[in-house]
Parts: sequence; C-alpha cells; structure tokens
Amino acid sequence: MEELDMPIVNKTLNESTHQQTPIKDANAKLNALLDAAVDALIVINGKGNIELFNSAAQKMFLYTTQEVLGKNIKMLMPAPYREEHDGYLSSYLATGETKIIGKGRNVKGKKSNGEEFPIFLSVGEVKESSHKQFVGIIRDISEQEKNRIEAQQSRERLTHVSRLSSMGELAAGIAHEMNQPLSAISSYAQASKRLLQSTTQDNTLKVVTALDKICDQAIRASDVIDRLRTFVKKRVAQRESVDLNSLILETVNLAKVDTRILDHEVILELSLDKKPNLSADPVQIQQVLLNMIRNGIDAMEHLKGAPLRIYSQWLSDDIIEVSVIDSGHGLDEESSNNIFNPFFTTKESGMGMGLPVSQTIIHAHGGRIYFAPSQPSGCVFSFSLPANIINQLEIEK
Ligand SMILES: Nc1ncnc2c1ncn2[C@@H]1O[C@H](COP(=O)(O)OP(=O)(O)OP(=O)(O)O)[C@@H](O)[C@H]1O
Ligand SMILES: [Mg+2]
Repeated sequence: MEELDMPIVNKTLNESTHQQTPIKDANAKLNALLDAAVDALIVINGKGNIELFNSAAQKMFLYTTQEVLGKNIKMLMPAPYREEHDGYLSSYLATGETKIIGKGRNVKGKKSNGEEFPIFLSVGEVKESSHKQFVGIIRDISEQEKNRIEAQQSRERLTHVSRLSSMGELAAGIAHEMNQPLSAISSYAQASKRLLQSTTQDNTLKVVTALDKICDQAIRASDVIDRLRTFVKKRVAQRESVDLNSLILETVNLAKVDTRILDHEVILELSLDKKPNLSADPVQIQQVLLNMIRNGIDAMEHLKGAPLRIYSQWLSDDIIEVSVIDSGHGLDEESSNNIFNPFFTTKESGMGMGLPVSQTIIHAHGGRIYFAPSQPSGCVFSFSLPANIINQLEIEK
C-alpha cells in the first residue's frame, strides 16, 4: 500500500520492537479502512500539502498517490476555491476560527483531466498528530446535483405548462365573453343607423341612448381584456368588496343584450340579510352568472314565457349561494358527466367553455359550483362563495 509511507501511518512499522506486531496489525486495519472507504479521504499538513490520498480519492480525482503526494491540495480545486484555500488555512491556523471544520460544505473538485465536479467536503483536524494535519472527507455529489437540477427543471416546466394552460383556458373564455359585447355593439350600431335614416321622426334621443349602450358594451369588452391582464399578473389584487345583489341586477341587465331573455320572466329572489360583503372579482362573478343565465335561456329556447329564477341565500353566516333555476330540457347522463370539461357543448354555436371557466373562477374565490335537476324539469346551477375570504386575504398579506 502506497499510504504506508505516509506520516499518518506511522513509521513504527519498520521498527523492530516487541510492539511490531500490534502496530503492524493496526496499520493493516487502517489501510484496509482507507481502501474500503467509498468517500475520498485526503490528509494535508498545515501548509496544505497532501500527505495521504486513499483509493477512492485516486478514482475520484484521477491521480495516482505519487502524482499528488507532497503537492498542495489546491491542485484538486478549481477557481475560486483554489485561490481562497491558502487564506482559509492561514486564518484558521492564526485565529482557530473555522469556516468548514465540523460543518461540511458543497464545493467543487477538479480532476486531473480538468473536469470540475460537485463535491461535499467535510474537514477535521488530526488532533494528536506530531504536526498540523487535516483530514478531508470528500463525497462526489454529481448524481445528486444532476437529480436536483433535473427536478428543478421539471418543476419549472410544469409551472410554465400550467401557466400556459390556464392562459389558454382563459383565452377561450375571453373569446366567449368578447363575443357578447361585440354582437351587442353591432346590433346597437345597426339600430342607430336605422334610426338616423328615418325621415319621419326625430330620433336624436334614441340614437344617443343607443350610443350610450355602445359605449357601455365597449367598456365591458375592454374590462374583459383587463381581466385577462390581471388574471395573468395577480388575481388576488383584482378583488374588491362586492355587493352581490347589485352585481346580480347588473348581470341581468347585461344578459338582456341577448334579446331572447325578453321571452322569459326573470324572477329574482335575493337574500336581503345583512351579512358581510364579499371580497370578489366582480367582473369574474358576473361572467359566471351570465353564463348560467344564458345556459338557462338556451335550455328553454322552445319554452317561451317559461320563467328563469335567480335565487340567493346565506348557507351559513359566511357562505352565500347563488342559484339559477330554469325549467328547460335538463341534462342527460352523458352531459351531466361532462359539462365541466373544456369544450364540451351540445350547442351548435357553443364553445363549451362557459362552465369550465366558471369553475376555475369560483374555485379561485374559494367557492364551489354545482348543479342538480330542477322539478318538474330543468336544472338548478349554483355557486357558493365564502364571505370571510376578505379576512383570509388580509391574513395572507
Ligand atoms: N341550464 C342548463 N340546462 C341544460 N343543459 C345545460 C345547462 N347549462 C349547461 N348545460 C349543458 O352544458 C354544456 C356546457 O355548458 P357551457 O356553459 O360550459 O358551454 P356552452 O354553453 O355550450 O358554450 P359557451 O362556451 O358559449 O358557454 C352545454 O352545451 C349544455 O349542454
Ligand atoms: Mg354556456
């Protein structure tokens, strides 16, 4: 064993005293241990010169013992560790203050072929030695580092994919929502044109009203775009204190843009209980409700005059539920199982994004969205929202 020549494996090996056999045995055991160690073991003196270099160190750094013995340990280090080492050593020898002894650090090693690799280095001082000696135990952590980097990269990919997918889902929802104000703008513009072309009466007031409505719808369309921006940036910041009853009334008015709603009586049964206001994104909640109203109207297309009920009730002190109840064709089993799946639609012009987007919105608000058959026919679509979310958000901040 080459290490037998080195100071740590005492010279007494060659002495012919009566202790020769036990010392020989001890050295043999030590050498066996050094060779069996999976970690690289390197002993240096106070100047940083290598005095011991076990088999694992030879394999790890691709040097033979002869190539490194007596040389400075810096040869096994890349920059910046190489430049820092002398300073660490002399500062420890002068002050006894250590940055590494007994702690262990992730640093880098350098092989004889110049390849750098990550190592975990722990250092101890050889206390009973005749001269200053330090032992370094080095573990090659290339594999762990590779796994760590791969795990980090796949986490980043996943986050990116989920960001893209939620943006994709949102984009489809935005297209769906943009369609409504745009078709309303087109109808009001056509009506204004007809009014202006009429020579029989002064329609100025009616045109002004129509233009006001065009403005409202254009603002609504740009709100939808703003919502996309805010969604992508930071959703929580969008929340504000919302008066749900006013929001429901506003939404019904918006729904009237689709004139088919005028074929039905809209019955509002809203809770007047004085409970805490909701903290919600009003445009998003409106989007959910509008889709439910439009779905109800779609389901009652051939049932002129059939009423649509919008109902709200506090399920508890801090959970409000809003339901839209129609008496339309209802849902068969296949539809019931699929309505929250993106792009599931039974309508010719449907996109199948209304309910999936609504689900995303309601879940983001900490609420639930669900449906049940209505008696004698039709559906009840409901969502619940927690009112105390305002406090939760404050705690989160
Ligand atoms: N009140 C309802 N009564 C009967 N079926 C309904 C009702 N609401 C939703 N559905 C069914 O669920 C499907 C999905 O609804 P969703 O709102 O997600 O999409 P859509 O209305 O088809 O299209 P859009 O993207 O324009 O909303 C509908 O196509 C319809 O089959
Ligand atoms: Mg819909």
